[in-house]
Amino acid sequence: MGNTVHFSELGLANTREMFAKAMAGGYAIPAYNFNNLEQLQAIITACAETASPVIIQVSKGARDYANQTMLRYMAMGAVAMAREMGSNIPICLHLDHGDSFELCQSCIDSGFSSVMIDGSHLPYEENVALTRRVVEYAHRFDVCVEGELGVLAGIEDEVSAEHSTYTRPEEVEDFVKKTGVDSLAISIGTSHGAYKFKLKEGESVPPLRFDILEEIERRIPGFPIVLHGASSVVQDYVALINQYGGRMDGAVGVPEDQLRRAASSAVCKINIDSDGRLVVTAKVREYLAQHPGEFDPRKYLGAARKELVKLIKHKNINVLGSAGRA
Ligand code: G3H
Ligand code: 13P
Ligand code: ZN
Repeated sequence: MGNTVHFSELGLANTREMFAKAMAGGYAIPAYNFNNLEQLQAIITACAETASPVIIQVSKGARDYANQTMLRYMAMGAVAMAREMGSNIPICLHLDHGDSFELCQSCIDSGFSSVMIDGSHLPYEENVALTRRVVEYAHRFDVCVEGELGVLAGIEDEVSAEHSTYTRPEEVEDFVKKTGVDSLAISIGTSHGAYKFKLKEGESVPPLRFDILEEIERRIPGFPIVLHGASSVVQDYVALINQYGGRMDGAVGVPEDQLRRAASSAVCKINIDSDGRLVVTAKVREYLAQHPGEFDPRKYLGAARKELVKLIKHKNINVLGSAGRA
């Protein structure tokens, strides 16, 4: 196999049909980040066993960590593993938060079936131009493109109208028309990482801005929307991390009922990374604390992988509604 390969040669699918079905069925496709073998095995096992379509996604950092050629073969292996399990689930390999045309091009050339070009930090017209350029290249190979409008809040930002980093609904129609993107990531109050909201004593998590989502849906009806920063930061895992020597005070995420509501709307893709990281860290800490003499990585990574399968099944079945849809 040469350096340039089309995603269909790897047995991968793009997101077009996945999103059309998710939109019609009122559920969302899970997009799980992976960086290593155990994460990918857990994603494929859980999605095959729950018959869920899946997007396996890699960030620029993951690509640097795992090596781009290794990743391509891991994706091929993921497809083969699912088929060996007797599962025909569609699997999409997606670039998460691509930050340049060149990176997107390189991923497309190496077999990705979907890329995100994240121009959300750029002035509007520059975001349009960059996104358009990626779309023109990607569509030549039937690769789908996710764009982004609005900037996700960081922990240091106030999630408030004054600092409006929310997606501006009045821009979406023009953006989608000018760029030709296949899906649009929006900002309605989620953020990346394990510390999504700064809560004072007794405060609960503020609701996502469903009013903005509804206004976006009204302006671009039937268009696939993507929700980033959608980890729930499961408190049992945070507690386990803290119990076994970690320090993650105040870690909090998006409540599951809000994600279920989003999944039943035009949100067709829900991005989850931090929850997977938390499971792995919690289980590795627990295992090593309980087995101080153990030094076989298969033991502690195996424990983490097993728990990750459990979490992903739960999300597919109870949160995103993607189980049984493949
Ligand atoms: O949105 C960011 C993803 O969680 C990936 O994070 O850049 O640390 O791999 P990363
Ligand atoms: P979380 O940090 O909430 O898991 O979000 C992941 C994400 O949006 C990846 O693009
Ligand atoms: Zn993201």
